Amino acid sequence: MSKRERGLCFIKSCSWTSWLLYCCVFINLANGYSVKNCTIRGSLKYAVNINVFCNKRSLHFVPGNIPDKATHLDVSDNVIQKIKKEYFSQLSNLKSLIAQHNKIREVEEGAFSSLVNLQELNLACNKLTDILGGMFQNLGNLTVLRLNENLITNINFSAFSPLISLRKVNLSRNHLNKISKVQPLFLLPQLQEVHIGINGFTSFQTSEVSNISLRLKVLDLFQNPLKVFSITADIFPLLDNLVLAFITENMIWDVQDKRYLQSVQHLNLSGLQLPLEKITDLLQTFNSSLASLRLHSLGDVKVRALIRNVCLISSLKFLGLQWNNITSISKDEMQFCTQLTELDLSNNRLYSVPAIVSSLPGLRLLDLTFNQIKNISCVDFSNLTQLRTLQIFRNDISLIENFAFKDLKNLVTLIIRSNRLLLNGYFKKDLHKLESLDLANNKLDSVHSGDFESLKSLRNLSLSDNQILFIEPGSFNGLTNLIFLNLQSNKLSQSSIKDSVFSRLPNLKSLLLNNNYISYDSQEALVQPPFRYLKKLKILNIFSQGHKGMCYLPSNLFKGLWSLEELQAENLNINSLHPDTFTYTPYLWVLDLSRNDFISLTTKEFLPLQVLKTLHLSKVGLQSLDFLINANLSKLHLLHASKNALSVINETLIQSLPTLIYLDLQANYLSCDCTNAWFVNWTISSNDTEVESGYELTCNYPDKLKGHKLLDLDVGSCNVDVGFFCFISTTTLVSLTLLGSFLFHFLKWQVIYAYYLLLAFLHDNKQQRKLNGLQYDAFISYNVHDELWVMRELVPQLEGEQGWKLCLHHRDFEPGKPIMDNIVDGIYNSRKTICVISRHYLESEWCSREIQVASFRLFDEKKDVLILVFLENIPCHQLSPYYRMKRLIQKKTYISWPKPGEDTRVFWQKLRIALETKGTSEMEHPISWDLGVI
Ligand SMILES: *[C@@H]1O[C@H](CO)[C@@H](O)[C@H](O)[C@H]1NC(C)=O
Ligand SMILES: *[C@@H]1O[C@H](CO)[C@@H](O)[C@H](O)[C@H]1NC(C)=O
Ligand SMILES: *[C@@H]1O[C@H](CO)[C@@H](O)[C@H](O)[C@H]1NC(C)=O
Ligand SMILES: *[C@@H]1O[C@H](CO)[C@@H](O)[C@H](O)[C@H]1NC(C)=O
Ligand SMILES: *[C@@H]1O[C@H](CO)[C@@H](O)[C@H](O)[C@H]1NC(C)=O
Ligand SMILES: *[C@@H]1O[C@H](CO)[C@@H](O)[C@H](O)[C@H]1NC(C)=O
Repeated sequence: MSKRERGLCFIKSCSWTSWLLYCCVFINLANGYSVKNCTIRGSLKYAVNINVFCNKRSLHFVPGNIPDKATHLDVSDNVIQKIKKEYFSQLSNLKSLIAQHNKIREVEEGAFSSLVNLQELNLACNKLTDILGGMFQNLGNLTVLRLNENLITNINFSAFSPLISLRKVNLSRNHLNKISKVQPLFLLPQLQEVHIGINGFTSFQTSEVSNISLRLKVLDLFQNPLKVFSITADIFPLLDNLVLAFITENMIWDVQDKRYLQSVQHLNLSGLQLPLEKITDLLQTFNSSLASLRLHSLGDVKVRALIRNVCLISSLKFLGLQWNNITSISKDEMQFCTQLTELDLSNNRLYSVPAIVSSLPGLRLLDLTFNQIKNISCVDFSNLTQLRTLQIFRNDISLIENFAFKDLKNLVTLIIRSNRLLLNGYFKKDLHKLESLDLANNKLDSVHSGDFESLKSLRNLSLSDNQILFIEPGSFNGLTNLIFLNLQSNKLSQSSIKDSVFSRLPNLKSLLLNNNYISYDSQEALVQPPFRYLKKLKILNIFSQGHKGMCYLPSNLFKGLWSLEELQAENLNINSLHPDTFTYTPYLWVLDLSRNDFISLTTKEFLPLQVLKTLHLSKVGLQSLDFLINANLSKLHLLHASKNALSVINETLIQSLPTLIYLDLQANYLSCDCTNAWFVNWTISSNDTEVESGYELTCNYPDKLKGHKLLDLDVGSCNVDVGFFCFISTTTLVSLTLLGSFLFHFLKWQVIYAYYLLLAFLHDNKQQRKLNGLQYDAFISYNVHDELWVMRELVPQLEGEQGWKLCLHHRDFEPGKPIMDNIVDGIYNSRKTICVISRHYLESEWCSREIQVASFRLFDEKKDVLILVFLENIPCHQLSPYYRMKRLIQKKTYISWPKPGEDTRVFWQKLRIALETKGTSEMEHPISWDLGVI
């Protein structure tokens, strides 16, 4: 037994009490890749950062076997109540520890003392009441500490003293009451940012804080019931950002010398409930330094009365007026604001662009989002020649007058999404410097040639979430700098994405076409593949959500996409791929084919993808991943194959993927027997590959282990001591082999026959109990090469038209069950067995086993169960190697699929009669069809 196996048994024998944590730690399992209840991101071998996520798992404790190389650990959103000393004792590499949203009341003394490299500690949203003296021992590298939203009332005077590198602390929403309780904090040498809002402080006075000057840059006193704010010493020479928002008391403002706050550039007075005169007084303090002022949520009347005074501050550049219910602002009210460069009027009740805007020629940013503006007149933005960014989304705009943009000569970004616009020639002139245009979620229904012709500098264009049905060829001509084009969620069909639409976009890198109505009738090559001119395209999205999907991918759909690196093609309702599909995209890195119902995927389709790094094959109906073995995916890093019907993970497969670091096999039908023994061992021990939620994988087979955890499987018994076994059995084996091969050579079919008789006998015993409760009308035995015929012709006719219930192996076989059991059950649960015979069928071994079982059933039950359907003409001499088949044909009747062009109705009729005949002895009811030439 290896050391690791012994470790495993030991774990099993431990019960999950808290001392288990000790036993895990001490047997040092901390280097494997799978951690119960956690996921790991980053290879243990290569990556610098190892992220361990144990969040949202209802954990009562921190899992014990976190790899000691971990650099980031997230245990947030659990129900941990206590941080114990041993939890992190091995994790000296940790740089961040996130434990927010738990129920932590207590942290044991020294619990973090091993974390000498920790830079961020997040204990927000817990139930801490006291910060004890030793809590932050050894955290000399900590720069960010979050303790907001706890119940902290007391902080030990020396608790913060080890935090010599701390820059930012958040203690908002606690119960601290007095500034003196956080006073030691202010004295930390590197501290720059303090958030102590909502704590019930009634006064803030420099005399309570320090008598030496500090390095503080940000002081946030949000929503404290301050009665006094008193600065009587120059202790904040570097203070840049002061938040006094939502102070509801009639605060006494006592700043003895304006110079004490002279470096404050950013001030937030939102929701401040002081009388107007007092606010005006307060603003006097800042009248030389202030650059940015937020006056949100003060109300229409108050804020408009304030603006005049505010604008007297000559240094002011940014004014934020959100959430004030402003309906209009007159020129008069803002006449002194000409120095402003940024104005935020979002979330108000404006019905039009306020006239004042055009009197602020220095504006570089204007935000009018979330108002009720109905149209834009030709003078609204006149004079705004300096404007760089205009945000006007979420309004009600349906009209933009001519020349409205004529002065916006330097506009770079225009966000006008979520309005009610049609394209009415708005972009045929002006806006020569525009780089980003967002017109998403408007009412566009078509795009015409010249619609964007003046936007020579455009790089990003979003037209998503409109109702565009039609794009005239040439619509995007002239957009030679366009890099990103978003057309997702429109009503485009295959006929509206002609190659000529995209023919003049030489620099396009991203094209989003997902969620449209593009679909094809076959895999046949297109005459003019739509993307053939997009030589530089790197990202293409064509997936769909809720629509019928593309149905087929034409074999040359991606022709021309020589640089393509990422293709998102989920949920397209395609069930096969042409082997040429990816021959045009040799540099594809990321391929997502999830949620398609593939009938079969083969090695061929993946051969061109030599640099593929990420492959998504979740929910595509796979029974095996073995087709990837020879696909030569030597660069594959991430393989997503959840929600399939995989039962066995082949060792050869994993070894053919040398760079795999992540494998997702959740929600499959894994077999819990020795076939997966190698996989189980590998999952536990691999240092290179993380198996997603490895410890949560469950078994589907055998029945008695259904729902059990795969990694609990005792694989010890699978590895019999080979040497010893060989020694004992060699002699026996040799003689048995001699005897066996002698018998087999002379009595081959009798031996196989006996085997199946035995199977049939065993099955019969089971069957006796079930009697006539047959599940299916017919079991279909066919070769994968004939799958398309079966799916496209046979199944729709027999199940759809004639109403029989068929058993198809890719659909009805119980995943995880050995294939032979499935065949026997399938055949015995069906009245008939239809063999779809082609040359491929004859060569296939599985299928001939199916024939054997069926013909033994015929013998065994004396029932006429076999129906032979010939898909192609097979001359007699070619049948001779299959002499059993020949014998069957001589004895039995068969039906031939007509040649192309011939009427198929007679064929289906014959099949119907064959299916209708009761399963009585063939001797009594011989059926005879015309026997075509074989
Ligand atoms: C994983 O989490 C579940 C849910 O809290 C818990 O019952 C189980 O004991 C945990 N397992 C381990 C190994 O931590
Ligand atoms: C900070 O981390 C470095 C290693 O990255 C370590 O050498 C040093 O001792 C730590 N500083 C403190 C104050 O713990
Ligand atoms: C704006 O109007 C809404 C609804 O009338 C009101 O609830 C809100 O308090 C007002 N906001 C301000 C800042 O006055
Ligand atoms: C802004 O432009 C208008 C014409 O659209 C002009 O009448 C007005 O004088 C300009 N205002 C300023 C402040 O430049
Ligand atoms: C794994 O796949 C290889 C190649 O297809 C095959 O030869 C081998 O038998 C498979 N192994 C198992 C355990 O199924
Ligand atoms: C993984 O790493 C540990 C120690 O780092 C080593 O003991 C173990 O053998 C490695 N496992 C494999 C499969 O290489």
